[in-house]
Amino acid sequence: MWTLGIESSCDETAAAIIDEHGKLRANRVYSQDLLHARYGGVVPELASREHLDKIGLVVAEAISDAAVGLETIQGVAVTCGPGLVGSLLVGVAFAKALASVHHLPLVGVNHLEGHMLAPFIETEAPRFPLVALLVSGGHTSLYLAHALGRYECLGTTLDDAAGEAFDKVAKLMHLGYPGGARIDALAQSGNPNTVRFPRGLDRKGNFDFSFSGLKTSVMTHLRSKGIEGPNADVAASFQQAAVDVLVRKTVAAAKKHHVEHIVVSGGVAANSALRLGFERVCQSEGLSLHLPPRRFCTDNAAMIAYAGRLRLMGGQRDTVHLQVSARLRL
Ligand code: KG4
Ligand code: ZN
Repeated sequence: MWTLGIESSCDETAAAIIDEHGKLRANRVYSQDLLHARYGGVVPELASREHLDKIGLVVAEAISDAAVGLETIQGVAVTCGPGLVGSLLVGVAFAKALASVHHLPLVGVNHLEGHMLAPFIETEAPRFPLVALLVSGGHTSLYLAHALGRYECLGTTLDDAAGEAFDKVAKLMHLGYPGGARIDALAQSGNPNTVRFPRGLDRKGNFDFSFSGLKTSVMTHLRSKGIEGPNADVAASFQQAAVDVLVRKTVAAAKKHHVEHIVVSGGVAANSALRLGFERVCQSEGLSLHLPPRRFCTDNAAMIAYAGRLRLMGGQRDTVHLQVSARLRL
């Protein structure tokens, strides 16, 4: 089923097309990073306006990249939550209009399900049961996925998301926004054993996360040492503390539930140390790791087209009454 996916939940306006055989034919992402950088974070009102300005263009570009006409598209999938309400509304309104005018089936997709299935976009059918670590700027949660649509939340962050902690630490070191990838790059030349930062909620059997204490520790350390700008050793030590907890809890969850397949996805899954940490431990523990390529870690519409296509082929349909939900759960 030829499926057009649309994503606009935060600050990326994206459209992608997957063909009848499941092959990705187009994947356009317009990032608003530059627009929000000067404010040090996403400004919701600006984000919605920018989505409105770009969505028609991005969808048209995806259709042109796939070298098909709109008449080839057989279904429309759109992110309906969680995310920023104003941003979500733009994508959903656009998808509804397109589906309605062209008499196409429409399905709303949970953004987190998109991230969870992202490793499978260009490889295979999802391998259930699996344990998924979804780790981004807005979310850090562990799920046990029994089957498509049957998800159990095992734990979540009690304060900051991991990506938020990366962004805040980057800000403390004047690295700019969003800072995750910049911490990653800076940490390459640092020693991760320089400072022993705290590993939040690191008790056995606890699958919740906490990153605000870690961020505060970094702040206190920088102040006490009089460090003002970028510091590779502190970046590497911070990153190691975050990675340790994420890897340890995910692997412990997989073992507890006797699950072989592990998914790590979301913007922070682009992090080199996190990828390496998971690759090493999964190899030594005999677990099967599913990591999306970096371009599918951060927000994109390929993952929405992929999840939506599975749901559409399973017969799921939404109507023009599809609602957005800022706090939609998996
Ligand atoms: O999934 P995403 O694009 O948007 C949300 O749904 O939040 O994730 C964005 C987050 C940002 O916090 C960004 O700093 C972080 O992912 N990020 C990284 C890296 N690349 C992006 N964090 C650590 N290392 C990276 N290489
Ligand atoms: Zn996301």
